[in-house]
Amino acid sequence: MGDVEKIPTGVDGLDDMLYGGIPINNQMLVAGGPGAGKTLLTFEILYRNAKRGVPSVFIPLEEDTPMVLRNVKEAFSEFDDLDDLVKSNMIEIDGGGPALKVKEVTDSELYSFGNIVSEIESLVKQNNSKIVVIDSVSMLKLVLGETSLYRKSMMGLISTLRRLNVTSLFTSELPSTERESLIFSPEFFMFDGVLNMYQIGERDKRNTMLEIVKTRGSNHSKALTPYDITPSGFKLTTAKIE
Ligand SMILES: Nc1ncnc2c1ncn2[C@@H]1O[C@H](COP(=O)(O)OP(=O)(O)OP(=O)(O)O)[C@@H](O)[C@H]1O
Ligand SMILES: [Mg+2]
Repeated sequence: MGDVEKIPTGVDGLDDMLYGGIPINNQMLVAGGPGAGKTLLTFEILYRNAKRGVPSVFIPLEEDTPMVLRNVKEAFSEFDDLDDLVKSNMIEIDGGGPALKVKEVTDSELYSFGNIVSEIESLVKQNNSKIVVIDSVSMLKLVLGETSLYRKSMMGLISTLRRLNVTSLFTSELPSTERESLIFSPEFFMFDGVLNMYQIGERDKRNTMLEIVKTRGSNHSKALTPYDITPSGFKLTTAKIE
């Protein structure tokens, strides 16, 4: 197991794959194709932690707060105490101020990276968050372009979150939904951890599988693991764990 302190995800089967959880203060990428379940998986991790008293913030850059909550409730209809946990601010869902309104603002001046970082920083401080979800980095990439500025900005954001002592999950588009044709983009190297969600095409249906690519500072299962999204949360079929 090692001595690294971990934050359990609470997701059925995932902590076994992570040998206990996400190493504390890891900045992790959760990458997958459209509809793979990135938003739902990261949200469930916040929900499970809120239930045991760990506060967090979910920062949606693609959807507004009511839409996030509606989609989560629709998928996870058995999360009865979700509204209470949101109301009591154990899970803060907040799209931030003007710099983070990536979809709405046309004035690129507002996208100054300093503004983005300081807005994220103040969201984290509002409820003393221990876990942060940014959904998604693809939105930031859209704004900053696939330039060295984007890479530098992301590195800056990652080091700010490290300094704030939080564990973060950044969702991202996977360059390919198929594992075999995957080319790793720069994000895969910047982050401490990477979890990929694949939709693997069979002849007449797609199978959903996830894989932990890396967690800095800890070992993890290398197994490609099937998952289902159910009303009571994600279910992983972890039979192959070594
Ligand atoms: N009520 C439900 N029951 C079961 N599965 C559901 C339900 N609602 C949504 N899903 C599954 O969850 C997926 C959407 O999950 P989510 O929004 O987390 O995906 P995503 O990876 O964030 O997508 P995007 O790339 O669009 O942001 C759907 O494609 C569907 O497979
Ligand atoms: Mg999403």
